[in-house]
Amino acid sequence: MNEKLIEVQGISKSFVLDKSKSVGILNNISFSAHSNEFLSIVGPSGSGKSTLLKCMSGLLEPTEGQVIINSINPYRLSPSKIAKMRRTDIGFIFQSYNLVPALPVFENVVLPLRLSGKKISKSEVEDLLKSMNFTADLGSFVDTLSGGERQKVAIARVLVTHARIIFADEPTGAVDASSKELIFKRLRKLGEFYNQVSHLEFRTK
Ligand SMILES: Nc1ncnc2c1ncn2[C@@H]1O[C@H](COP(=O)(O)OP(=O)(O)OP(=O)(O)O)[C@@H](O)[C@H]1O
Ligand SMILES: [Mg+2]
Repeated sequence: MNEKLIEVQGISKSFVLDKSKSVGILNNISFSAHSNEFLSIVGPSGSGKSTLLKCMSGLLEPTEGQVIINSINPYRLSPSKIAKMRRTDIGFIFQSYNLVPALPVFENVVLPLRLSGKKISKSEVEDLLKSMNFTADLGSFVDTLSGGERQKVAIARVLVTHARIIFADEPTGAVDASSKELIFKRLRKLGEFYNQVSHLEFRTK
């Protein structure tokens, strides 16, 4: 069995709407994800997939239960340690891209490398974007790009870090069918060694 990288132990998440109302989104969810595993989480819109990914990745503390990443509970870390863990071990492709509008494409992609003082390879960035059929100029500002182009920039920004754990929240939601195929091919290539492909069906709300 591969090494356990993420353990989700009985997590629930509710949001407080106002003083008298809260809404339960996740209810007592448990599973684990291992190294070399490609795990997809599927479920209808609004069922809580993005909320679960945020809870699993140290971005949003669950109301109950525990998340363990690499033997560490990220919610017990100081803000600076959790930021470091996210910079070094974890890549998150956001459903809403979360790019920096004031920066051009290239600088958006290499931002995590700059923040952690890592080496930047211009040709790697170019190859990555090309492999996803990205044709816009690397000097253009991201707010001039189409939704699909922005999504490709968000994916490249994570892949360029070679993070050990990648969370991808609907990474092909905005791209056309042929780009979708290229992106999944690219993601699968990451795990030339994936020896476990799993599927988690999500219904709870
Ligand atoms: N901060 C918040 N405060 C209140 N409700 C929230 C908050 N974040 C998410 N929700 C609610 O939680 C539910 C699940 O949202 P989530 O974004 O996790 O769904 P999803 O499965 O990712 O949906 P989609 O497929 O549309 O991306 C939704 O009803 C949403 O309105
Ligand atoms: Mg979502």
